[in-house]
Amino acid sequence: MARFIDELKRTHYCNALRAADERREVVLFGWVASYRDHGGCVFVDLRDREGITQIVFDPDLSGHGEAPRQAHEIARALRSEWVIGVRGVVVSRGANTNPRLPTGEIEVHAVEVTVFNKSETPPFEIADDLDTGEEKRLQYRYLDLRRAPFQRTLRVRHRINQVVRRYFDEQGFLELETPILVKYTPGGARNFLVPARTAAGKFYALAESPQLFKQLYMVAGFDRYFQIVKCFRDEALRLDRQPEFTQIDVEMSFVNQDDVFGVMEGMIVKVWKEVLGVDLTTLYPDGRFPRMPFEEAMGTYGNDKPDLRFGLPHAELTDLVVDHGGGGVPFWKPIAEKFASGAYRRDLPAEIVKVLRVPAELASQLSRTEVDKLEDFVKGMGAKGLARAKVEGGGAWVQSPLAKTITPELRAAITARAGAGDGDLLLFQFGREAVVQTVMANLRLHLGKRLGLIPESGHGGRWNFLWVVNPPLFEYDDEAGRWVAAHHAFTRPHDDCVELLDTDPGKVLCWRYDLVLNGFEIGGGSIRLHDPAVQARVFRALGISDEEAHRKFGFLLDALRLGAPPHGGIAVGMDRLAMLLSGAESLRDVIPFPKTQKGTDLMTDAPNVVSPEQLAELNIRVVQPS
Ligand code: AMO
Repeated sequence: MARFIDELKRTHYCNALRAADERREVVLFGWVASYRDHGGCVFVDLRDREGITQIVFDPDLSGHGEAPRQAHEIARALRSEWVIGVRGVVVSRGANTNPRLPTGEIEVHAVEVTVFNKSETPPFEIADDLDTGEEKRLQYRYLDLRRAPFQRTLRVRHRINQVVRRYFDEQGFLELETPILVKYTPGGARNFLVPARTAAGKFYALAESPQLFKQLYMVAGFDRYFQIVKCFRDEALRLDRQPEFTQIDVEMSFVNQDDVFGVMEGMIVKVWKEVLGVDLTTLYPDGRFPRMPFEEAMGTYGNDKPDLRFGLPHAELTDLVVDHGGGGVPFWKPIAEKFASGAYRRDLPAEIVKVLRVPAELASQLSRTEVDKLEDFVKGMGAKGLARAKVEGGGAWVQSPLAKTITPELRAAITARAGAGDGDLLLFQFGREAVVQTVMANLRLHLGKRLGLIPESGHGGRWNFLWVVNPPLFEYDDEAGRWVAAHHAFTRPHDDCVELLDTDPGKVLCWRYDLVLNGFEIGGGSIRLHDPAVQARVFRALGISDEEAHRKFGFLLDALRLGAPPHGGIAVGMDRLAMLLSGAESLRDVIPFPKTQKGTDLMTDAPNVVSPEQLAELNIRVVQPS
């Protein structure tokens, strides 16, 4: 029988002991965070998941016979990250208190020690601040996770999980599971495919979300469902996107949009209170978050997830440019002409013109070279350039190539639309709508950071929640030259838009919503389309035949005809929530075992090749890319 673990049980974690514990006999287990051999005594900082306790190995510790001398002998050989157990006595550090440690008032004088395991020299130090490259840290992820910042972050995730589970349980939601190996259904994010060994040539898809199954739970009468669930998407990765991520997934029957918002606002308020100690009701006294129509978000901020911690809104100028026939600006004339000739329609995406006004007090912080650098920044995103003008007293424009040719009328109209005055800087973009919106949205964000309106990363102690609501049901696919579902084909259109399904699909608004926090989309959902008759009209508008619809979504269409209650729901990205809550910059900082930007796991070396036998069993042949 081993002395430690079998006989000597751990009495405390390493952040537990205080002055009041003096003279107590304790047993601690942990890792050697640091050691100092001072000739006489050996000092060890012992670390576990809770914190650090200083251990002193004094060979002359009296009252314990020969044991302390033996312990000291062993301690002299200890090295970083060895795993040890210590029995000892708590002693006050008196005047030598270490104010940086919660246990700094005491130390443990070791009587007995055991080495559970030695460690080779780790590839990097297990320290709070580290400048080791991320690749190395991902390769030895378990060592990175051993560091205090990660221990804290993963605790935040744990807390969020617990609070969320408790909240939904209290609200009468049932935590129900859904399959991960599912049928491939088109639309939405790209699925990972899994070959089915037992059905040659056939594939499962990994669920990109439990969407269809949670709707079927509603048809089955479960009324309120939630799940903290892994989802899989084979998409281009970004700092806020991982191929494998976690959703807080919710679906409810007999609800409208307000009901869904109320439940989710309650959850967020609770998470902030219990995880961060922040009372959001001081910001949102009635517990409700502001709402903004999708169209306003696009027009004013260039995207559907505006960071409203700061201003710098855009103004749309296309109508002015068209009405003034381009207003003497050579670049704008062709745009106006295309609208005039009917080549562009105002209800379809075309070329647009937008302006961003930097108010004088902020513009004065930007030198001319810095404004030139802004041009390089937007070119990096595919913009052709960044036209600009400085407004002078009396509304004249200076430092601007536009100023030479623009008509006084259009100049005055733009100055008025932008609300510009003396010293303001105007930044223009024009061209294809999608590019202009992206460039202007990113330019606004870049300026917000550059001008110190928001921090480079993190929340800066500010929490700006927003529901973006009432988007169009369809979006125009330029390449295909037809309307496609903007989200998925099972989103319910506004009742007063149903008539437009056949006549003017672009104008159909729907009950879809996104929850935005500080410029990140943290959740999205919709009220579902449960009426088969309207569903058929939506498919018609999308050019999807009955036969095609049935092949793709037959099981859901059947279910909608077999007693589907009105229902709706939402999914919140748990990883994004954890990232924003803990002020992290990337999802990789809050996901314990993440993938790199290329989708690889550097620790286990996944994905990897498999043997020819395995492939043969799956009836798969690999074609090497040429
Ligand atoms: P949606 O696709 O908007 O909705 O996803 C919901 C939320 O999940 C998070 N998210 C991601 N997080 C990390 N990495 C990713 N690759 C990733 N993709 C999405 C985002 C997003 O807001 N079934 C619907 C929900 C519904 O309609 O009820 C859905 O999945 O925070």
